[in-house]
Amino acid sequence: MAELYRQVRARTLEIVAPLEIEDYVIQTAEFMSPPRWHIGHTSWFFETVLRKYQAGYKTYSQDFLFFFNSYYEGFGPRIERSKRGTRSRPTVAETKNYRAHIDEQMMRFIESVSRRDDAHKILSIIRLGLEHEMQHQELLVYDIKHLLCDQFDAPMQAAPKSVERVSGMVEIEGGLFELGNDSDGRDRGSSPTVREGAKRTGKDAGEPQAGMPALQEFAWDNEKPQHKVFLEDFSIDRVPVSNGDYLEFIKDGGYQDFRWWHSAGWEKVNAEHWQAPLYWEQHDGEWMIRDFSGLHRVTDKLNEPVSHVSFLEASAYAKWAGKRLPTEAEWEKAAMFSHSSTTKQEFPWGDSAPDESKGNLFESGLWSVAAIGAFPEGQTSHGCHQMIGDVWEWTTSDYVPYPGFKSEFDEYNDKWFVGQKVLRGGSYATPQIHIRSTYRNFFYPHERWMIAGFRCAKDK
Ligand SMILES: [Fe+2]
Repeated sequence: MAELYRQVRARTLEIVAPLEIEDYVIQTAEFMSPPRWHIGHTSWFFETVLRKYQAGYKTYSQDFLFFFNSYYEGFGPRIERSKRGTRSRPTVAETKNYRAHIDEQMMRFIESVSRRDDAHKILSIIRLGLEHEMQHQELLVYDIKHLLCDQFDAPMQAAPKSVERVSGMVEIEGGLFELGNDSDGRDRGSSPTVREGAKRTGKDAGEPQAGMPALQEFAWDNEKPQHKVFLEDFSIDRVPVSNGDYLEFIKDGGYQDFRWWHSAGWEKVNAEHWQAPLYWEQHDGEWMIRDFSGLHRVTDKLNEPVSHVSFLEASAYAKWAGKRLPTEAEWEKAAMFSHSSTTKQEFPWGDSAPDESKGNLFESGLWSVAAIGAFPEGQTSHGCHQMIGDVWEWTTSDYVPYPGFKSEFDEYNDKWFVGQKVLRGGSYATPQIHIRSTYRNFFYPHERWMIAGFRCAKDK
């Protein structure tokens, strides 16, 4: 746990390392948070653990408790979300000192935990804090993109090339399907918290990831319990909708035709003057995409997944294309059900952990989507590509509790069970150890500063 803690905490600082001091405090929109806030808030989260479980712990600063609490009513008053960028204090240096103090305390605390009777419970909470931190690492990427985009000096790696031309849909047989994460029902081995090598070193796996500590099994409460759902036969796209596909929708007047849009979508199109995804710009009549590496012609990126679209836009495109978005159960069956073994596997390609040959996640270091057809090793037995990584994929499912849901963490997932849509699969900003095929991300239907795209489905 100490090693995992050290690695996850270090990565947050690696992400912000190229920032200049002025970049840390600016809030460019209500929905984003300044980088200083993220590095303070993720430390505040661990300070709540120390305050509760470390005897004699002295609160670092009452002001910090106020400034770095996000939305937790149980932890008292806090600054309004939209005002996180209205203060110059605490300074960035003070925030980093706070972070270093919490790390020092936490490392000592983790070393002492094994001697306690409540060790299992505390280790679970620390793991939760690390998963929380990884969520904020992804948010940092969204927020830094909104703040700086191509002015940010991201440590970008070369993107893999498309090695296979992939298109069309596959048919998936319906019937009863076990939706959700079953980790509670599994034999976890001798220790309740640390399972050496973890389940991600399954049958086609080999060794744990180099440099990564043995993984604890972890799943959010909202992915559980696994339960039966009935699916009709359906078809699903083999690949995410591409910029090229989406450009056709734009050129066909998609943003000018109310027939494709939900009422809420049509209202947004008119109120916000949407004409294309976020980060698309028109120059001399030509659509361009701005990303971390600069401004590009869409025509040079036709074979890449479209990103920064809202649920409202994804739905409109699907209707225009004579298709629909998949439900999350359809998405999960397509991603996890093995045609050949007729069982549910951990990932589209089998049970081994994600790596750079199978999908475009944070560790690939692309800071961008990859071309469609760049990860043949990551495909499902049905031939669906890039279900894990690149872009979170909108589903038509409402983010509501599964039948039998039990909240495991106060004010974490369950307080958001209204008005949001489920996204699946992770993006190029999601850490490899953070993603699971059963992971349910959620955002409001109009939001699009996240790295979100989609693939379509169809009734048979
Ligand atoms: Fe948070």
